[in-house]
Amino acid sequence: MGSSAEPRLRPTPRSEGLHERLHRRLQTIRQRTEALIATLEPEDLCLQGMPDASPPKWHLGHTTWFFEAFLLEPHLPGWRVEERRWGYLFNSYYDAVGERHPRPHRGLLTRPPIAAVLAWRRRVDAGLAALLDDLPHRPPAEGDALTSLLELGLQHEQQHQELLLMDLLDGFSRNPLEPAADPGPQGAEAEWTRLIGDEPAARGWQSHPGGLVAIGHEQGDPDFHFDNEAPRHRVWLEPFELANALVTNAQYAAFIADGGYRRPELWMSEGWAVVQARRWQAPRYWRGEAEFTLAGLRPRPPGAPVRHLSWFEADAYARWAGARLPSEAEWEQAATSSEGLPMAFGLLWQWTASPYRPYPGFAPAPGAVGEYNGKFMTSQFVLRGSSFLTPADHCRSTYRNFFPPASRWMAAGLRLARG
Ligand SMILES: [Fe+2]
Repeated sequence: MGSSAEPRLRPTPRSEGLHERLHRRLQTIRQRTEALIATLEPEDLCLQGMPDASPPKWHLGHTTWFFEAFLLEPHLPGWRVEERRWGYLFNSYYDAVGERHPRPHRGLLTRPPIAAVLAWRRRVDAGLAALLDDLPHRPPAEGDALTSLLELGLQHEQQHQELLLMDLLDGFSRNPLEPAADPGPQGAEAEWTRLIGDEPAARGWQSHPGGLVAIGHEQGDPDFHFDNEAPRHRVWLEPFELANALVTNAQYAAFIADGGYRRPELWMSEGWAVVQARRWQAPRYWRGEAEFTLAGLRPRPPGAPVRHLSWFEADAYARWAGARLPSEAEWEQAATSSEGLPMAFGLLWQWTASPYRPYPGFAPAPGAVGEYNGKFMTSQFVLRGSSFLTPADHCRSTYRNFFPPASRWMAAGLRLARG
């Protein structure tokens, strides 16, 4: 983001469409975040099920802090930070910005109340609109940089929309009453049900010749990308095959019935230790023949893709099935091929065999936003695609999601590879 080598989107009268589009996106994305809490009770807004997760109210505050700290305070003349101490509460991990409240304690923040957080959101929204209107009057280079930062803030907020839903599912799953966060027809689980109902039962494998391929964000492509998607670079691939479909609940149940969680030879040593320590016997939200979802306890269709798997489980299943996980280069090559990759987007993130490391020549953005991705490039694996919790316009073939191998509260599934 913001590299001087990047193409520039100039907020000049010639690109008035861009200006209007940013205004509209700002309004739409900010409103959608607030729509996600519309079905919740006030008590739910402080729910933090585990240290990795955050309460809904915190997500609303943090995304607002991001805009205030990186755009308004440094770049909008006359902007005044009214609640300086909120920066301590809502900074996530930006060391360059300052000290912060410990993540495991976010659920303790009953104050500020949601009304104050929502009022702050309104004030920041107005500030962002004013900044946007002022961009044509700034020097082009400054206008370009601020446009990029604003887009980063919007993409960041979309990431937190998915995190908010993941974290809600985790928190609600710990309540013995098995409550529904959003059982309505507009809810994420209703969308999942529609998606798997529409999905054709594509089976079989697609073959790829391999060879010297290029992956990553193309320099000069004006579409948004996170810094971790660049630079585009070459990778050598041996011939490979990818499954047309994601692994289903029924297929995963066969793995369990065959002793999948009791056979150490199927697991990485670290994963086997996790299985034993946490007494894993099934995917995170399986409950007998049902599954816990954002709409509460629901039947588990045998033909639907299995979801909420860790990398360790995906890797063990692949070994049991006589296959393997795809590399991220294989996945991207298939997704961008003329044939295309079925079920690539909008259902489940797909674990890859690739550790999350910088691409050759990677350079984090200068300044505090350089902490966005780069410092997490260790001890995690890459997931590709997008999920039913991901905003629809927040996916692309070069997107690199990442989580530690034992995490399974994200909407992750798996696609097999071989060869
Ligand atoms: Fe964040």
